[in-house]
Amino acid sequence: MSAIADLTGRTALVTGGASGIGRAIAEAFVAAGARVVVLDHDAEAAERTAQSIGAAAGVAADVTDEQMVQCAVAVAERLLGRIDVLVNSAGILTQSPLVEMSAAQWQQTIDVDLTGVFLMCRHVVPGMVSRGYGRVINIASQLAIKGGASLTHYCAAKAGVLGLTKALALEVARDGVLVNAIAPGPIETPLVDGISEDWKRAKRAELPLGRFGTPEEVAPTAVLLASSPGGDLFVGQTLGPNSGDVMP
Ligand SMILES: NC(=O)c1ccc[n+]([C@@H]2O[C@H](COP(=O)([O-])OP(=O)(O)OC[C@H]3O[C@@H](n4cnc5c(N)ncnc54)[C@H](O)[C@@H]3O)[C@@H](O)[C@H]2O)c1
Repeated sequence: MSAIADLTGRTALVTGGASGIGRAIAEAFVAAGARVVVLDHDAEAAERTAQSIGAAAGVAADVTDEQMVQCAVAVAERLLGRIDVLVNSAGILTQSPLVEMSAAQWQQTIDVDLTGVFLMCRHVVPGMVSRGYGRVINIASQLAIKGGASLTHYCAAKAGVLGLTKALALEVARDGVLVNAIAPGPIETPLVDGISEDWKRAKRAELPLGRFGTPEEVAPTAVLLASSPGGDLFVGQTLGPNSGDVMP
């Protein structure tokens, strides 16, 4: 592992770490020398993933439930000693035109994809501030920037994540806590399994790279943001491993 990706001695908590992008980031962190706790609402998958990638442990929590979040953060801090890096990757995606969307469907997406990020930050960042060091990496989406039909709830939540990222970055940068976002393009994970083949074919055709990415192609961006000196100057930024889908 080159020095630029060295996370030896660092500790990390990765939400949504049992699958897809979160899992690949947790695995890359372990490979770079970090001690990692995998958090997921799928308890069995969190435990299985932690074992298979060499993480310290898997903990079960629903990121929308503040009590569970508080408890999981306490468990992770006990296991790791402290949390240096928080990755918020837990997320869901459903599709519906706005005029057919129930308020419950809207709210569920806002709860998981946006409020979950707030709750995790709310309970992890104070410890980072008190120690004068931390990195928060929020997994947003390029759809926050370009929008997507039948995805108003998802795009609104992810745009909210970008706003939260910038505002929190301003609040805590001087305390040594750097907050940034990654906005991936379409990535082959279980999240996009439910999307129709027609949509995927059309989407691939419109991408400058002509293909979706893999979680392993997103993970190095998180390693960069978590590392020092590589990540030291990123504050409130949105990095875009997105196959060229968005060029801000
Ligand atoms: N796959 C893509 O094309 C893509 C593109 C851009 C952004 N993203 C974002 O990346 C993140 C990871 O997505 P992915 O593609 O790896 O999906 P995934 O479905 O493979 O992984 C998401 C993980 O989050 C967990 N999770 C869901 N709800 C949760 C909750 N309430 N509490 C705790 N854990 C919960 C799931 O159990 C799962 O392990 C998401 O925030 C997603 O919006 C994905």
